[in-house]
Amino acid sequence: MQRGRDALYVLLQAMGIEKGDEVILQAYTCIVVPNAIQYTGAKPVYVDIEKKGFNIDPDLIEAAITPKTKVVIIQHTFGNPAKIAEIQKICQENSLLLIEDCAHSLSAEVNGQKVGTFGHAAIWSFGRDKIISSTWGGMITTDNDLLAKKIEESYEQIPFPSFFQVFQALMHPLIFAIIKPMYSSKIGKGLLVLSQKLKLIPRVIFRIEKMGQKPHFFPQQMSNALAHLALNQLKKLGRFHQHRKKLAMRYGEELKDMPYELPLNNPLASLKGENSAHLRFPLRHPNAQSILQAAKQQGLYLGDWYTTVLAPADCQLKDFQYKPGSCPRAEQAAVETLNLPTHIQMTPAKVERVVEFLRQQIG
Ligand SMILES: Cc1ncc(COP(=O)(O)O)c(C=O)c1O
Repeated sequence: MQRGRDALYVLLQAMGIEKGDEVILQAYTCIVVPNAIQYTGAKPVYVDIEKKGFNIDPDLIEAAITPKTKVVIIQHTFGNPAKIAEIQKICQENSLLLIEDCAHSLSAEVNGQKVGTFGHAAIWSFGRDKIISSTWGGMITTDNDLLAKKIEESYEQIPFPSFFQVFQALMHPLIFAIIKPMYSSKIGKGLLVLSQKLKLIPRVIFRIEKMGQKPHFFPQQMSNALAHLALNQLKKLGRFHQHRKKLAMRYGEELKDMPYELPLNNPLASLKGENSAHLRFPLRHPNAQSILQAAKQQGLYLGDWYTTVLAPADCQLKDFQYKPGSCPRAEQAAVETLNLPTHIQMTPAKVERVVEFLRQQIG
């Protein structure tokens, strides 16, 4: 699929989800997830996240189930596995389909079993800033033959992206390689805006998606050129994972005595049997938003994913049927969370700079 969101939409349709159905998902997510649900005509029903963590709270799922509920989508946020055994049990007891949204979690495991193999199906993303990236890219996996057949049938009916869309996607890494070293200067920022205005690089989320509506070109197959890039990236997965883990260890070591709340399953205090994909290293602090601003002023780009309960911030929650106040923990997490980069371009020196900055912030 061209994107993870296309994969989710096609999967929900193949599962027979339609108007009148309800689909459970966590708050503290990206709007493309409720969008995929809404495009089928079904209603997204939000469940709050765990007290300490960024994934759906299994204890709150049952209260959200109604006779209309058909599917539970779980998300392994930032690469940290959700409480999969408890969630599987709830889905079994209530005859619900379970989708694992593995957009963040390629290579994560629970008790030695890869995430994405616990539910009825999983979706994956190879978009920008994901574990592996081909600028755009998505995939569905399932071990259910009947479902696989339905997915294949609908996949054959959907179009490929246009030549221009593929060109844009291929230009993205090249243009970014040029802009990135200059990004903290006005020239760098200007070049980025110009490239976007000239449509040389694609937007991550389209304006129409931010209004809860379906772009006319959605969904699409994945182009061969991008699939080639993704396969090439896949070969590097092991090396990328080791790198991310090493940096996560480093952040954990350096920050453990500072007044930041570290993830429960950081490598130092790892939950038994869990192995994060470490897409980001999340940490919480009551002043996260002002810390993010201060970082930007110093030319440091710490992760600002999910600074609102449904990201990105320039969206209207009502367009995604989210009721403000309904998931207070997710809303709190959105304003209190920083998530530090672990990607392959983060060198030990860059990690030191981030740590030093965070140390200064707490005086
Ligand atoms: C939790 C989650 N699920 C799904 C997606 C969809 O991925 P894509 O950008 O490939 O459509 C994203 C995108 O960032 C995401 O954050």
